[in-house]
Amino acid sequence: MTVCALAVAMCANVQAQEKGLKDAYKDYFSVGVAVNMGNLRNQKHVDIVLNNYNSITAENDFKPQSVQPSEGQWNFRNADAIADFCREHGIKLRGHCLAWHNQVGHWMFQGANGGQATKEELYARMKTHITTVMQRYSDIIYCWDVVNEAVTDDANATDPLRPSQWKSIAGGDEFIRKAFQFAREADPNALLFYNDYNAAVPAKRDKIYNMVKEMKAAGVPIDGIGMQGHFNVYDPSLEDIEAAIVKYSEIVDHIQFTELDIRLNREMGGGLNMNRQGEELTEEKQKMFDDKYTGFFEVLRRHADVIDVVTFWNVTDADSWVGVSNYPLLFDKNSEAKSTYYKVRDFTPTKEEEKAAKLSVKKAANEAADAKAALAQKNFKK
Ligand code: GLA
Repeated sequence: MTVCALAVAMCANVQAQEKGLKDAYKDYFSVGVAVNMGNLRNQKHVDIVLNNYNSITAENDFKPQSVQPSEGQWNFRNADAIADFCREHGIKLRGHCLAWHNQVGHWMFQGANGGQATKEELYARMKTHITTVMQRYSDIIYCWDVVNEAVTDDANATDPLRPSQWKSIAGGDEFIRKAFQFAREADPNALLFYNDYNAAVPAKRDKIYNMVKEMKAAGVPIDGIGMQGHFNVYDPSLEDIEAAIVKYSEIVDHIQFTELDIRLNREMGGGLNMNRQGEELTEEKQKMFDDKYTGFFEVLRRHADVIDVVTFWNVTDADSWVGVSNYPLLFDKNSEAKSTYYKVRDFTPTKEEEKAAKLSVKKAANEAADAKAALAQKNFKK
């Protein structure tokens, strides 16, 4: 080994020994992160990932449009690379996502005659898609967002579902039921999630709760609820977040925060830049940011008995989908840990939090998923 290579190896070793978020929270829940191919090519990002996270989600590379851009034309290059990164390092992988109204090829909804697909056509394609993707990665993926964002944000709507081609072709919520059934058949060992944003907003929370409750009663194999967690420093309140956790835990055994980021203003959507509006990261905003992150993690620790995993959506502010100047993550645009990071990591648990950690029956699921990742690592050949 050259001196240079030795220095790099020693440095990597020191990095790996640093206490990360996954270590700080090991008695509570797993801590995950969404990655893209750019992250995997950036050594600083890789170091952050390996030090801090024991669960990975692909930001885009397992989405329907990415893996099957047109019918029967499969593109697994990036998905394979991310799965291999997880196998190489023994990190469990969340599957995201199988049925969504966004980032899905239009072909999914087109009929053979050029018009709209029939229900039968849609379900056949859905089944092929779900089965192919799930079975390809069943050695490393421990849970899937089977259906993403099917519920409406409209508090006054009588129909709980958002308008979508899935819904119009299925004539209702049957596509959700089918998706979960196909997913269970494809990989009986994966935990199956319904995943959505604004899942702590009371009106939407109740729609999600009622839908999942009714479907589970009808035998639809839904194991958990994914609360995305695209928050801002104002909304939702910690009280609403906690109330949603408590309510969902009545009907599912697994709750995950799947896409955590906390932006500094109330802008919605991606790629935004609050500086364009003349705002900046003031001391007051910094304090709100710290309080929201630390308060949120206190809520999570108090409910460690029902929460499996919390996943940050992106590695650093530089690659956050909400824009670098919304400063939403714990690592800044230069890949440095923010002061908030240490506040989240170096907590002093309350008695109540320690009790919740001990009661964590969900750990069995995480342990099984970690064991699966360790086995995948053992079998992995570069
Ligand atoms: C939603 C999706 C994610 C991602 C974000 C924006 O929350 O579930 O996959 O596209 O939007 O990055």
